[in-house]
Amino acid sequence: GAAKHPMQMEWSFEGPTGTYDRASAQRGWQVYQQVCSACHSLKYFRFRNLAELGYEDDMIKAWAAEYTVVDGVDDAGDPKERKGLPQDAFPSPFPNPEAAAASNGGAVPPDLSLIAKARHDGPNYLFSLLTGYQDAPADHEAPAGKSYNPYFPGGNISMAPPLAEGIVEYEDGTAATQEQMAKDVVNFLMYVAEPKLEARHHMGLNVLLYLMILVVVLYFSMKKIWKPVK
Ligand code: HEM
Repeated sequence: GAAKHPMQMEWSFEGPTGTYDRASAQRGWQVYQQVCSACHSLKYFRFRNLAELGYEDDMIKAWAAEYTVVDGVDDAGDPKERKGLPQDAFPSPFPNPEAAAASNGGAVPPDLSLIAKARHDGPNYLFSLLTGYQDAPADHEAPAGKSYNPYFPGGNISMAPPLAEGIVEYEDGTAATQEQMAKDVVNFLMYVAEPKLEARHHMGLNVLLYLMILVVVLYFSMKKIWKPVK
């Protein structure tokens, strides 16, 4: 059936003056790192991009080194693996889509780099999906190995509920409720999908300000130029 309309939340990055809630995005990075990255890659996001979320280079280096990345092939033509470096993108934990599907009941966990922008009403959809798992209604046939989630098109999703209360222990001591973790990972994934959002908003406001001043200047110069002509 048709997917349920997502819950409408308020996000700090919305609107022409919107900015990222960095504390939340940092917690969301912890959620991604400790939970989502077990199945999902971020192939357009590099470890070094974490610097803009407020992390030091040596922390980023250490985190990158926890991941294994493929870098070229060896003499036998097999993929060559090494530890991650800050300039690498977040790798998939699976060697290929076939292996990913085999580990996940036939469904491939999608790359999450752009998911917050790629899905309609992305942030609200992600939040609703992550907090919206529930028992299937009596008239709903749930296939084996799938979970019921009314926000997912069709209602049957091959991702088991990933966010159990307390699954992450936050560095800043925030209580890791399901809602909190969902909110935080949405702030992180939105940042991943559009790291330049704040610069874009800033530029837009400056353009408007410039145009407003220009209108005033042109108005008075027009008055002056046409004064002799009655
Ligand atoms: C699908 C997010 C953790 C396995 C998805 C989708 C999103 C998502 C947004 C796509 C839904 C769509 O297509 O519209 C997340 C987040 C996670 C997380 C934010 C961490 C909080 C996990 C984990 C696993 C997993 C730990 C594996 C154990 C999958 C699979 C799918 C999927 C197999 C495909 C589902 C299908 O097409 O039926 N996830 N995920 N995810 N995820 Fe996750």
